[in-house]
Amino acid sequence: MLKNHIILISWSLTAALAGAADFKKDIQPILEKNCYECHSVKTGKKKAGFVFDDLETFKLDIADNDVAQIRPGKPAESHFLEIMVNDGKNHMPPNQQLSSSDIKKITEWIAEGASFESGAPKMTVAASTPKKSLPPIMSWTNMEGKTIKAGFVRLEGENVVLRMPANAQEVSYPLAKLSEASQKLARDCAAP
Ligand code: HEC
Repeated sequence: MLKNHIILISWSLTAALAGAADFKKDIQPILEKNCYECHSVKTGKKKAGFVFDDLETFKLDIADNDVAQIRPGKPAESHFLEIMVNDGKNHMPPNQQLSSSDIKKITEWIAEGASFESGAPKMTVAASTPKKSLPPIMSWTNMEGKTIKAGFVRLEGENVVLRMPANAQEVSYPLAKLSEASQKLARDCAAP
């Protein structure tokens, strides 16, 4: 059961990239139907201190840190979502299960940044792991005529620092052991 839910989360993540969930239109009705009974200012029930109809209060549960219920852009790290999909004793709503389409919408909404505004700029999941710009891969030949492919990083004294594409490791190699053409290439790369 738990396994199915984990699959559901990652599947939903992919779906999230295509869709767009609007809080007022898509999410609030789900919470109203399934959660407000026990978590709302209106009914006066604030189980575990949580209310989801007063957005000013609800907003305090949304932040990118370890204690927030909802981490914008990170559905898989959002406790709010986890307790709806898990089988634990803190499962919400108690003794019920949200439909997979409701779970999918909530996952999308969190993945897109968990905003209350409609038409707010959407976050993309990929944005949370910015790619480092890597140096272009070039061919380097040493004195023995062996060629490797690596990116130029910098010159360091009499060595050239190269980045290996396979594992992104930086290695330092004596310039003097490179072919003349490769030595020139390294100096050209280092030139401002
Ligand atoms: C029938 C009442 C009821 C409904 C409906 C309900 N809850 Fe709860 N909720 C509770 C109770 C009771 C607790 C406190 C449980 C505890 O502390 O073990 C709680 C606790 C929580 C917590 C804190 C638990 C934790 O692990 O930190 C969250 C978050 C929460 N509910 C979210 C929701 C959401 C989201 C919904 C709707 C999908 C929902 N609840 C529906 C009764 C309800």
